[in-house]
Amino acid sequence: MTIKQSEIEKVNQYIAENQKNVDSKYRHHYHVMAPIGWINDPNGFVFYQGEYHLFYQYHPYSSDWGPMHWGHSKSKDLVHWEDLPVALMPDQAYDKDGCFSGSAIEKDGKLYLMYTGHVINDDVVFQTQCMAVSEDGIHFEKFENNPVISAKQVESYGSIHDFRDPKIFQHDDLYYSVIATKSSENRGRILLFSSIDLISWQFVSILLEGDESQGIMWECPDLFHLDGKDVLIMSPIQIQKQGFEYHNISSTVAFIGQMDWQTGKLLVENYHEIDFGMDFYAPQTLEDEQGRRIMIAWMQMWDRTRPTHDLGHQWSGAMTLPRELAIRDNFLVQSPSHFIYDNIKIQAQYQNIPLKAEPVVFSDLIDDATYLKIVVDLRSAQQLEIRYAQHLESALILQYNVDSQCFTFSRANFGHLISGNEPELLVERSAEVLLKNQILEIELFRDTSSIELFINGQVTMSNTFYEHEKGKDLIFSVEGEANILELISGNIN
Ligand code: FRU
Repeated sequence: MTIKQSEIEKVNQYIAENQKNVDSKYRHHYHVMAPIGWINDPNGFVFYQGEYHLFYQYHPYSSDWGPMHWGHSKSKDLVHWEDLPVALMPDQAYDKDGCFSGSAIEKDGKLYLMYTGHVINDDVVFQTQCMAVSEDGIHFEKFENNPVISAKQVESYGSIHDFRDPKIFQHDDLYYSVIATKSSENRGRILLFSSIDLISWQFVSILLEGDESQGIMWECPDLFHLDGKDVLIMSPIQIQKQGFEYHNISSTVAFIGQMDWQTGKLLVENYHEIDFGMDFYAPQTLEDEQGRRIMIAWMQMWDRTRPTHDLGHQWSGAMTLPRELAIRDNFLVQSPSHFIYDNIKIQAQYQNIPLKAEPVVFSDLIDDATYLKIVVDLRSAQQLEIRYAQHLESALILQYNVDSQCFTFSRANFGHLISGNEPELLVERSAEVLLKNQILEIELFRDTSSIELFINGQVTMSNTFYEHEKGKDLIFSVEGEANILELISGNIN
């Protein structure tokens, strides 16, 4: 059985004919988006024949989630992206209600996708793992023997009703796939399967299981070796709040430790939330030819209001910046991909600006696609507040309190209200940030309706916002005294 080309042609024709109707007001400049419609998780992120390919969960026909297709884009530099035709659509009995998340791998020059076939029969969900292959990286044929992993391999190790998001990789001479499921007590579980040929798959182990505080289901696992550690990243639903961590209804977590390949178990040494923003979910990584581990996530959250949908703009969702990963002291740390820096055009640079009682205002540093680097000496300060894109009394607020070592980002009262399924309205989040020599260093990447913060090389925060009026001012104020050692602004294009 192969993909019915005529059907996928119709999808692509619909996109080509309708994408002109998308309202561009909140559209990004350098983040991946679909040409029209809804997107969620990044899928099949892979470096293939000299280019980065990124697929994504896609519903082209509305700005709401619906029967999942795989959208597709590619890039040479992770900054400039080209839309490609839709790669997968739900058109077989085993994936009739959706081609859910999955991953990609190259073998003998061909590109293979492994994805979840989502089927609903009599209101009951069944999920299996399926494969497709391409010789040109654009047109895919589904395997004749799909699904390749189903109930008979899962047995009682997981639930066939929640069994999804295969991430495929090679280790020694075998192919492996980590797949999310849950136990009968509703605890998240990651299963490990192996194959010698990508066609026939065997169960290996329960790689990791959560405890009852760690969520009712785990989604989108990814396992990789980095800086001497084995790292499992994944996205639990309803992991319980703990200090500043896990305030979103769905979170993303890095488990760091050592794989025991004899038993197929991950021996966890530490785990923590990956991003402290309100819009970050289901990240996926690739390793490129230089051995860099690069991660991209969906920059949105489940069960939130989405202004681009509510306003009828005909699109919803984007990806985060590509980030290079490293392990430091058993923590996963992120920095913007070097490609991003290659595309920053510096506009202005200031040094040694004293901050005292009077706020300091910059009125020409804010644009739709801006980069800001802010380095502040807080030796004599109790608190720093940076108001970004101030318009009248409204701004995005970045705040650091020296005593509590707490960094807060707030979008309260700014632009369209975004509300969600969290027990209380979530409009700001905080994280602990330790200063080195009393210095706070923030790198801020703003694209039209998103802001990503990289703070002191320790913490990232990814957030969306939808301003009513374009705010122009960047305002610094301090309790005590401080010194802006460096302020650099640039455009990204
Ligand atoms: C995560 C997720 C996946 C699933 C996909 C469906 O955001 O729920 O588990 O495969 O989205 O679109």
